[in-house]
Order: sequence, then structure tokens, then C-alpha cells
Amino acid sequence: MIKLFYLIFLSSILLADSYSLAHYIKNLKDMVLVKESMIPGKDVILPKDTPLFVQQTVSMYNWINNGKGTKLNIYVPKDKVELYKTHGPYPDGLTAIAIYEDQGIVFVTEHYEGEPIYGTYDRDGNDISEMHPSLNVSTCYSCHEGYADICINGTCSVPVIDVFKK
Ligand code: HEC
Repeated sequence: MIKLFYLIFLSSILLADSYSLAHYIKNLKDMVLVKESMIPGKDVILPKDTPLFVQQTVSMYNWINNGKGTKLNIYVPKDKVELYKTHGPYPDGLTAIAIYEDQGIVFVTEHYEGEPIYGTYDRDGNDISEMHPSLNVSTCYSCHEGYADICINGTCSVPVIDVFKK
């Protein structure tokens, strides 16, 4: 009987893949700002030589803040800053967060048994992964695992802002 409950529990997790898997952060004060980035507004045309990966990320998330663009800051727990530079390998627990500042959307990457897991929250810690298809956990994997040469061990860290520095 217990086994059956476990199976039902497990399949409900697997089927409802839209719920956040990573937990909300406890305290931003324990984290270090490692990158200030941005998502340009919908009307911004990216330079032709912008890497495809960056273009796809921008077009996926430029609806945020009503399409007006947003600051995007990346924070890492104090004790993981060095690991972040080398893309891990990460121990279990909170790995990094990315905050879409102008709308207050918090992307969380955590590691569990060596694998990256993802989640999206508002600033109060409410799970918003069902609010928009691009916030769905399966969408996170499609990109963070799809670009194996850029996203290593679940973190990607390509500074979008560099595109505009030229
Ligand atoms: C279309 C591609 C794409 C998708 C989909 C995507 N990301 Fe990312 N993610 C990126 C890129 C590119 C960066 C690096 C941004 C930078 O350096 O400015 C990044 C960075 C991050 C970071 C900062 C840590 C790091 O370096 O990886 C977190 C946390 C994060 N993403 C979580 C998520 C979550 C949660 C989802 C799903 C809701 C998600 N991502 C979906 C491309 C994507």
C-alpha cells in the first residue's frame, strides 16, 4: 500500500512538471551579486552577430515587465562564488538565482544529488512557474541542458549585457 502511495506521489510530480522543483531562497543577504545583466525590451533589435543562444534567451523572456526590458541580476551563495566561476561541480543545495528586477521574478537553480533543478518565484516566495510557459520547469531544462557547451552543470552565465558594450 505504501508503495502505491509512493507511486502516485511520484507520478504526480512527474506529470505536473510545471511546479517549481528548486526551493525559494532564505535570505538574499547571504548571497553575492556576481553579475549585472539585462533583458532588452521587445522592440530592441539585437546586433546580427549576437550568439543564437543569447537571441533565444532574450526572445523567450522579453515579455517580462510588459515587454519593456528589465535588469537581470545574478546572485550566488557566498560559499559558492568560486564554484560558480568554474561551473561547479556543485554540492547539493542552492546554486544561483537570477532576479528579473523590474518585475520581481526570481529564477532559482539548486542542485540535488548532483543534478540541477529549477524553480521560479515572485519576491514573496510564491511559486509562479505556471504563470507563463517560459517559467515552466521543463522550459528551464530545454535551454540549460540543451546548450551543453555553454551551460555546464546547470549554470549558463553568458553576460547578455556584453552585446551592448561594443
Ligand atoms: C532560452 C534559454 C534559457 C532558458 C529557457 C532558461 N535560461 Fe536560465 N539562463 C540562460 C542564460 C543565457 C543565462 C546567463 C544569463 C547571463 O549571464 O546574463 C541563464 C542564467 C540563469 C541563472 C543564473 C545562474 C547561471 O549562470 O546559470 C539562473 C538561476 C537561471 N538561469 C535559472 C533558470 C530557470 C529557473 C529557468 C526556467 C524558468 C531558466 N533559467 C530558463 C538561458 C536560459
